[in-house]
Parts: sequence; C-alpha cells; structure tokens
Amino acid sequence: MPNFHILTLFPEMVMQGLHTSILGRAVKSGTISIEAVNIRDYTTNKHGRVDDYTYGGGAGMLMQAQPVYDAYRSVVSRMEQKDDKNIKTRVIYTTPQGKIFCQEMAQELAGEEELIFLCGHYEGIDERVLQEIVTDEISIGDYVLTGGELPAMVMVDAIARLVPGVLHNEESAGTESFADGLLEYPQYSRPEIWHDRQVPQILLSGDHAKVDAWRLEQALIRTKERRPDLYEKYRKAHQAVEGKLTI
Ligand code: ADE
Repeated sequence: MPNFHILTLFPEMVMQGLHTSILGRAVKSGTISIEAVNIRDYTTNKHGRVDDYTYGGGAGMLMQAQPVYDAYRSVVSRMEQKDDKNIKTRVIYTTPQGKIFCQEMAQELAGEEELIFLCGHYEGIDERVLQEIVTDEISIGDYVLTGGELPAMVMVDAIARLVPGVLHNEESAGTESFADGLLEYPQYSRPEIWHDRQVPQILLSGDHAKVDAWRLEQALIRTKERRPDLYEKYRKAHQAVEGKLTI
C-alpha cells in the first residue's frame, strides 16, 4: 500500500483536492495514506522565507535547498523510526523537464510502499538538493503550470486508483481507456431513446458475446481515429499474437 508524502508550499491545496471523493474514501478506510508536508515549516530563515534570487542573475526566485532538504529528511526519518531500517524511497520531482507521465508509470509506482512528491514553485528549486534527493523527474505534459501541486495531484490520483481496494467493483480499473492500450468504447444508460438518439440495438440484445465483440470493434475504431499512435502500438502487439486484426 503506498503512503503518499507531498512536499509543498501549499498543503491545503493538496489535502483538499486529494481527500475528496474516491481517494477521500480510500484514506478514511486506511487503504492508502496521503500527507502534505509544508516546506515552509522547515526553513531556518527567521522571516519564514524559502526562496531567494538566482546566482548569475535572471528573473524570478528559486526555492532554496535547505528547507526542501529538511522537509524531505523529516519524512524519511519518520519512516526510518517506524521501520527501523534503511529505506530506499522514490522521490518524484514534478517538472516540465521530466519524463512524460503515462499509465505504465502509474502502474509501476502503484507497487511502491512509500512515495515522496516534491512540488516546485517560482523558477524552480536549487539544483543541488535535486541532485541529492530526487530519484525521478516527471512531467504531466508539454505545458507549464504555476507549480508542481496539480501535477502531483494528477499523479497521486492516477497511481492511487490502481491500488487494490481503492476502487470498488462498479468503478473497476480494468475496462477503461488505456487498460489494454485502447480508448474506451461508447457507453449508454437509460432511456433507450433520448433527443431522437437510439441506444445501439446490439446493447439491448442480451447477447454478451456479441456485445463484447461490438465494444472491442468500437474501441478499435475510436483509437484508430483519435489516437493513431496508440492504435499502431496495439496493432503491432496483437498482430504478433493473433496474426490479423479486422479493423
Ligand atoms: N510544473 C510546472 N509545469 C509542470 C508540468 N507540466 N508537469 C510537471 N510539473 C510541472
């Protein structure tokens, strides 16, 4: 079960967002734990500052090494006290310069016991502390946000929902987009006709094999149209196994 520790200057933002809905329920039931550690609480600056100008000049402020390192150490030393051993914890720095986050990475990280997220702000963080503590630099996409909190929340959500027990049966992680490399097929609920639009007849047939075949076909069509890159990947993998693909 992963314990998520988020080092941030905005703990309320993270806690509020991640203690709601499905993740809130999972925290309550003890399936996962999520804590936010306020980096500002660890500064030795008497005015509570955590940032300073960059050497060499240039616009903007940089988060300093000391408060980030001490916040990190507080989390690790608590773990060491609890487990009485040398823990190797992944420390993920959220940055547009990192590897792009994807479902496969979420799957891999869901198997970790402890995960520390480090959220940057301003112009970033002093390189020396990054070199010393960070194991993974991850971006959530090719755009720049004002801070690392939203990326950390995105990643925690994507990872946590893969932890056994976080989703209930009706929220299953197995059938949706990316679970098998395809986008999800279209879905319908009552009524049968809405605004003159009819639910596809096959879904009302009660023939599960036919429904499954239709859904796979729809997923393939959708993926080919919207994400040809994913479709190519799927096609290559499945051609090797089945020899052919109909779509
Ligand atoms: N911090 C700012 N922008 C980011 C992004 N796209 N991914 C991860 N961290 C970020």
